[in-house]
Amino acid sequence: MAQELREDALDIFRPLPSTVPAVADNPITPEKIDLGKALFFDPRLSASGVFSCYSCHNLTTGGDDNMETSVGHGWQKGPRNSPTVLNAVLNAAQFWDGRATDLKDQAKGPVQAGVEMANTPDNVVATLSSMGQYVEWFTDAFPEDADPVSFDNMAKAIEAFEATLLTPAPFDAWLNGNDAALDETELAGLQLFMDKGCIACHNGVNVGGHDYYPFGLIEKPGADVLPEGDKGRFAVTDTVDDEYVFRAAPLRNVAVTAPYFHSGKVWDLKTAVQIMAESQLGEAVTDEEADQIVAFLGALTGEMPQVITPVLPAESGTTPRPTQ
Ligand code: HEM
Ligand code: HEM
Repeated sequence: MAQELREDALDIFRPLPSTVPAVADNPITPEKIDLGKALFFDPRLSASGVFSCYSCHNLTTGGDDNMETSVGHGWQKGPRNSPTVLNAVLNAAQFWDGRATDLKDQAKGPVQAGVEMANTPDNVVATLSSMGQYVEWFTDAFPEDADPVSFDNMAKAIEAFEATLLTPAPFDAWLNGNDAALDETELAGLQLFMDKGCIACHNGVNVGGHDYYPFGLIEKPGADVLPEGDKGRFAVTDTVDDEYVFRAAPLRNVAVTAPYFHSGKVWDLKTAVQIMAESQLGEAVTDEEADQIVAFLGALTGEMPQVITPVLPAESGTTPRPTQ
């Protein structure tokens, strides 16, 4: 019985890779990973010197910020909930609406976004070039480049670091053959997740993150969950069919990344599951079923990567000063 369920599950999901996955046009090296880690933690990528990637993607709290929507430059509240960076390398595209094709494309967004880091590529390059240690690290990471300290290379290094942020979970151990890795309730939840049809959208290695669907396929949730102003992929494709279409959320570590949905309006995972069942499947789940599905989703919480906090280079006399 367990073996049959595993065979069915392996047709739908894939265990996490055990090594850092390759990414397009960016061979991953230890030098790039180390540089990317420093950049990920460095608040001087922001105009104010206050916000780093880590501010909104805190690796001690699930790779997100646990806020309804993120707070960035000048304490402005952004429009969307911060998704986790953990396992993000395995998503087919980045952001709730998939508007960035990969992590290196993605990393250039927040640095320039007015409500996030509010910086410019020129100012970032001036900042990094002003610190001898960064120039050395960029040269080591991009030895073939005549001009290694560049905005593009910043993004590539960050992508290399993020590609290491994989979190193997009990579900992976179970898919790989360890019967004891999931208990009975979690297995019942997995069976329901498959039988009810959640897998139509949440499948593959990241249990989502691969395709786009209307949020409210069967029944549109109220504006308290799905605010009317954010039309999702419509803003990317300008196609009416894409109104309120979003990327099926990747569900690894979902138990530790509340609040939920792009609006961040739902704090309780069981409530999020009940909303999904009604809005996407048009079918209420019982209280017990919802608990079992939540138990299964809990088995997607992985072992967090051990990241040693980097020591960042000190500013020099020519480092651009923070602005408000
Ligand atoms: C989305 C990384 C800075 C808030 C993302 C995603 C990644 C990421 C990989 C997409 C994840 C996914 O789609 O599953 C980074 C990096 C940063 C950075 C490398 C530094 C260069 C920030 C900052 C904030 C922030 C400072 C908060 C002020 C968000 C939000 C989203 C997001 C709200 C979702 C936006 C949307 O879908 O439109 N980030 N992030 N990020 N990040 Fe960041
Ligand atoms: C989001 C679970 C069925 C498409 C989510 C989230 C959860 C979840 C927990 C929130 C993740 C987060 O905020 O990080 C489930 C369960 C399902 C189910 C348990 C079955 C009962 C489906 C189906 C579809 C779908 C069938 C596609 C037709 C989506 C989309 C999002 C999402 C597009 C992102 C919504 C947004 O923009 O905020 N799902 N889901 N889900 N799911 Fe499902």
